[in-house]
Amino acid sequence: MCGIVGYVGSKDALPILLGGLEALEYRGYDSSGLALVRGGAVEVTRATGKLAELKKLFAQRAGDTKEPATQGIGHTRWATHGRPTETNAHPHSAGRVSLIHNGIIENYLELRASLEKQGCVFKSETDTEVAAHLLNTLLEKGLETREAFRQMCQAVRGSYAFLAIDQKTPGHIYVAKNSTPIILGRGEGESFIASDIPALLPHTRRIIVLEDGDLADVSADFIYLENRGTPIERREEQVTWDPITAQKGGFKHFMLKEIFDQAQVVGDTIRGRFSIETGAIMLPELAALETAAQRLRRVVLVACGTAWHACLEGKFFIENFAKIPCEVDYASEFRYRPQLFDADTLVIAVSQSGETLDTLGAIECAKGKALTLAVCNVVGASICRRADMVLYTHAGPEISVASTKAFSTQLIALELLGLFLAEKRGVMSADQRRSILEMMIHVPAAISAALKVEPQVIAAAKSFCTARDFLFLGRGTCYPIALEGALKLKEISYIHAEGYPAGEMKHGPIALIDERMPVVVILQRDKLLFEKTLSNLKEVEARGAKVLVITDAADDKTLGVVADSIIRVPYVSPELSPLLLNIPLQMLAYHVAVMNGTDVDLPRNLAKSVTVE
Ligand code: F6R
Repeated sequence: MCGIVGYVGSKDALPILLGGLEALEYRGYDSSGLALVRGGAVEVTRATGKLAELKKLFAQRAGDTKEPATQGIGHTRWATHGRPTETNAHPHSAGRVSLIHNGIIENYLELRASLEKQGCVFKSETDTEVAAHLLNTLLEKGLETREAFRQMCQAVRGSYAFLAIDQKTPGHIYVAKNSTPIILGRGEGESFIASDIPALLPHTRRIIVLEDGDLADVSADFIYLENRGTPIERREEQVTWDPITAQKGGFKHFMLKEIFDQAQVVGDTIRGRFSIETGAIMLPELAALETAAQRLRRVVLVACGTAWHACLEGKFFIENFAKIPCEVDYASEFRYRPQLFDADTLVIAVSQSGETLDTLGAIECAKGKALTLAVCNVVGASICRRADMVLYTHAGPEISVASTKAFSTQLIALELLGLFLAEKRGVMSADQRRSILEMMIHVPAAISAALKVEPQVIAAAKSFCTARDFLFLGRGTCYPIALEGALKLKEISYIHAEGYPAGEMKHGPIALIDERMPVVVILQRDKLLFEKTLSNLKEVEARGAKVLVITDAADDKTLGVVADSIIRVPYVSPELSPLLLNIPLQMLAYHVAVMNGTDVDLPRNLAKSVTVE
């Protein structure tokens, strides 16, 4: 999640922009940069690492210039396309243009090829640089800046928040938004732009939130706005948040914000990675798998904690779609067992941070013997550097120690991987892939709908928050979700919880059940699993347990009889049920923890990235 700031007015832009970027540091970043407009010239300064590195460059130059710059744009980059290097840092420049971007340009390869044919020379590995070159090319054809910017945005497919400066129109910053947040701030004779409210709070509380399709031409005294070519006005709002609340997007904790981020980041993870028309899965980063896929005889998924639960779901995708036998192992166990695999094995390490020591150790054990692939959220992390290939999730920085949005992006990335392997092995027709993809595109909207169950989850949390033990039950693809629901509750509320395959309960854990034990049953729509889980549910209910059912099944009278409460999420497809059914469980853990007064974002004894054995 990169950070964006912009300023145009009469004050010294440098401290305003640096201060704005500092206020966005919590979003995470690996490089930063500024473009300042001074006397009709644009100066671009970029650095890798922390903002201190960028500040050092300005400190070295202090005194070189007499006139302060009164306009500029700034960026902190969280790498998605291209490594975290200075060349890949924003702003990107092309001729008269300096441009920064948050988001993902899906058609950047085709745009880049066409611009290269026209003589453009690219310096970076980023998707953003195509937008800078495209805008400059349109300006060179003689288009007026606003029109050139409009045409550039029309040519780009994907998600973006763009800020652009044209050297020939000082005093203007051109802004556009599609699926990536951006807000404008109004002051007296000055205007501000930022990807998030905290960057604006020291200067103004008067904001305009841009909508998808908006384009703005921002100057010190005037903001021109249009949506998809039609001039519009947007309501100015007054922000009342304090700076810390603003960092959390108005939520009380980062965890809750990250739960609510999931529609966006799941969309970001699938965007541009398949074609609905052809059913093709477009993962050029896995080119080495294209030929190897045919000969694969075994897949081993390794990870820790929540990422390990994502692997359990990944097994279903790989076995059902790609028809390859697949095992799942804890990284800490895998690395100390005999490595009985060969070059026809694919070892996949799944990790949000890319730094978990055991997962890194597992990939190191497999390296050279098997093909290795990392599914990771942090570009350039240690696990990514060791693996032969990397499939990135686009969850953005996850700040809360308890993982939520990273898990959902891991599920959807593993589903894409399963489809990719199926395509390359020729074991699934284009029509079959298309029908799965047609459901996949509805997931972000279904997540938004699932998030609306929060009031029901709060009611359930109220009745269960004093319990000392919980049991979570699920079958098939809902079993890993039962494990994940139990882990989340343990981690942040310190309440003992166990996840169990529903059919296994009668072999032991049923002895624990009494009226003090809440049982959370995850029940998917699938007919066979529904009926079988329902029988297990009856066994639980008969022993006096309080039963909370999380389901995507249509209303069923029997269910109402055995469950104390039922929470329903939308149904998208059998494969994607787990992703949606997990959302109320994340919320349940969160609200039970809040009711018990624990430190939700920083639970005791836990670290975000576990770099010890
Ligand atoms: C649970 C949680 C941990 C991590 C585990 C692996 O909420 O966050 O269980 O999932 O430590 O971390 P990564 O994915 O960074 O390898």
